[in-house]
Amino acid sequence: MDITTAFLQTLLFLISISLYFYVFFFHSKSKNSINTPRSHGFKIHPVLGTLPDFLLNRHRFLDWTTSVLAGCPTNTSVFRRPGKVHGVLTANPQVVEHMLKSNFENYPKGPRFRTLLQDFLGSGIFNTDGELWRMQRKTASYEFNTKSLRNFVMETVNFELRTRLIPMLESASRTERVLDVQDVLERFAFDNICKVAFNVDPGCLGGDGTSGAEFMQAFEDAATLSSGRFMYVLPNVYLIKKFLDLGSEKRLRKSISTVHDFADKIIRTRMEERAEKKDEDLLSRFMGNVHDHNSAEFLRDIVISFILAGRDTTSSALSWFFWLLSSRPDVEEKILLELENIRKKNDKLIGDIYNFDELREMHYLQAAISESMRLYPPVPVDTKACKEADVLPDGTFIGKDWFISYVTYSMGRMESIWGKDCCEYKPERWIEDGICKQENAFKFPVFHAGPRMCLGKDMAYIQMKSIAASVLERFGFDVLMEKGKCPEHLLSLTLRMKGGFPVRVKERVV
Ligand code: HEM
Repeated sequence: MDITTAFLQTLLFLISISLYFYVFFFHSKSKNSINTPRSHGFKIHPVLGTLPDFLLNRHRFLDWTTSVLAGCPTNTSVFRRPGKVHGVLTANPQVVEHMLKSNFENYPKGPRFRTLLQDFLGSGIFNTDGELWRMQRKTASYEFNTKSLRNFVMETVNFELRTRLIPMLESASRTERVLDVQDVLERFAFDNICKVAFNVDPGCLGGDGTSGAEFMQAFEDAATLSSGRFMYVLPNVYLIKKFLDLGSEKRLRKSISTVHDFADKIIRTRMEERAEKKDEDLLSRFMGNVHDHNSAEFLRDIVISFILAGRDTTSSALSWFFWLLSSRPDVEEKILLELENIRKKNDKLIGDIYNFDELREMHYLQAAISESMRLYPPVPVDTKACKEADVLPDGTFIGKDWFISYVTYSMGRMESIWGKDCCEYKPERWIEDGICKQENAFKFPVFHAGPRMCLGKDMAYIQMKSIAASVLERFGFDVLMEKGKCPEHLLSLTLRMKGGFPVRVKERVV
């Protein structure tokens, strides 16, 4: 990088960050803000705004936002940014219900969201509104509702467990090799979603566990760098960087190109095979149904959205779950007891694979995973745009074209929602008469809610419970991270652990 480029990048970065945080908090304390924090100890420097405070809190961005929202009377805050990017942040279930269901049509993804993610997600389901979204939702819903999918997911998960994950953990335990559990789970989920959605087995977890490394890294970079575009104070700064092919935009372009090559290969192969094969998977449904947009490019966008949905969510959820368990032997003990009872009842031995009905009996495990997602939701923030000015149920005014984000991470930590012990990891709060209860989706919008609710929820629970049960009954993890300290968040489109989740695997003596 030459010195001019470096200088330009540093300048852009400093201007963006300082303006963003100055304006964010200056306006959140102005009379335009309806439900603003009164006193949260933000120190506003006369020149640098909250920049020094931000730098101190950067590693805990979500916790910082949580403390702001917790201090607002209705857990909603209004703020403004230059470039007419004004918005609302909320952790209020009534507001969430209003935006995701009651007034759904007024809160689409909107042009800003779509534009910022266009290069990465194109017109895939995560990045569309209106007819294009409806068509993809309808086509994908058929696939996700079938009983055969359930069986296929079970088969695919079990294959990956038996032939890849368990042998890898056995070997790591024998050789005392350090494993990055987050990376391993991402590979598992990636193989799984490719097989379920496109009937392709990339074998990322196979062999020495390094195959597909280039794609995995590129996908991760594309997601992280795309979400970084939301952080610019001057909304179009990224366009200048993109035009000049500088810094993060240059890296984004390269990573997207690698991701596209991978997805294009899946499409090309499928198109060639199309005449011979009559497989009914997600991709073949789209190839059969999508008439107006049946271009290879549109199919590629569909592939990328599904990889994102399937790869980064369950792996994030399980990484935080295993991390939480590492300091809660009492919860681990209860899960092991539940598994033992199910094995006894069904004449099973440790290491036998659990079937669908047995997984359904695992109420405590379901509660322990749900409770972990309450505190560490895989999608920590979700954003929509306001089409026409509106007044939210808590009285907050929202203007036309403002954005509105519900912060799932903060909602899991609101005393107003979960009570005084909201920050405690307590699976028991989910159990009623021995059954894991369904929580109100607007209070617990981890899987979104309303017409755009996650299509893969059931599939995700099948996968997460299968992995957790099979791993926990045979292995324990010695976490190689500072004890008692929460891993730093890597803010991407999903909540990941910065630097991974290194462990040493110990096979249990039974
Ligand atoms: C723990 C696991 C998961 C969590 C927490 C989760 C969460 C979410 C959330 C928050 C959304 C809304 C995102 C948005 O506003 O665009 C969503 C949408 C979606 N999810 Fe999931 N998800 C999970 C697993 C999966 C899996 C395994 C699949 C399967 C491929 C999947 C498929 C989808 C699809 C297709 C949508 C788009 C729905 C639409 O826009 O109509 N999800 N999910």
